[in-house]
Amino acid sequence: MEDSLCPDGPVDTAAAGSVTAAVLSRRSVRGFLDRPVDLDVLRRILTLTARAPSGCNLQPWQFHVVTGRALARLKALMRTRAAEAPHGEPTEYDILPNEMPAIYHERRFEVGFGLYDRLGIAREDKQGRAQWSAYNLQFFGAPVGLFCSIDRCMGPPQWADMGMALQTLMLLLREAGLHSCPQEAWSLHSRTVGDFLGLAPELMLFCGMAIGHADPDAPANSFVADRAPLQDYAVFLDD
Ligand SMILES: Cc1cc2nc3c(=O)[nH]c(=O)nc-3n(C[C@H](O)[C@H](O)[C@H](O)COP(=O)(O)O)c2cc1C
Repeated sequence: MEDSLCPDGPVDTAAAGSVTAAVLSRRSVRGFLDRPVDLDVLRRILTLTARAPSGCNLQPWQFHVVTGRALARLKALMRTRAAEAPHGEPTEYDILPNEMPAIYHERRFEVGFGLYDRLGIAREDKQGRAQWSAYNLQFFGAPVGLFCSIDRCMGPPQWADMGMALQTLMLLLREAGLHSCPQEAWSLHSRTVGDFLGLAPELMLFCGMAIGHADPDAPANSFVADRAPLQDYAVFLDD
């Protein structure tokens, strides 16, 4: 089997017709068309998302969907917040481990610089990078912003459950011809987002997610993040 089956090239905006097509055509999309998303489609997708498995069927995920005038208000608020607090607020969880082996640093820098190359942002252009980073808080122009949170009492197994729900959601979005970008960038503004959403105090914001129709002409969407080859992360024991 080839190491990488994921097609390079332009973002595939057609609806995915199989799980494999959904997996291969999903990529983090960071540029959306100004085209609304049918909320009934989203309701159906979120209903199906809850079919994701979870230990003891706790279903520990919580979603908030923000669109229309509410999204316009949030985007305006975040323009102000990004200017006031460009480095964000103290986070409620560690986005990355304090220390990690070199291979993970390499992967992190590879994806970061690969994307900035596509965007024409030079490595030393701190301001360009900061501006791009702030675009996260505009959901990359998407007409729908989703937030995912979890009860503070939950631990690593339930956080993994939440991840399964998020991936189920992103694959179902592909089946509907939609694209997404999961965004931990929002956790840097969790207090502001929590106040905006009226998030219950027992809930911790994990991430945001931009949802909409991919803009095939957005330079960021031509970027395909590489993956390690199979032998680097899978061991088969058969004897
Ligand atoms: C939980 C999570 C949080 C992420 N946060 C961000 C983010 O804040 N901004 C961003 O541009 N991409 C974000 N990403 C996208 C990753 O960079 C992306 O998934 C990774 O580079 C692999 O690329 P692909 O999704 O296009 O396959 C996030 C992904 C995940 C799963």
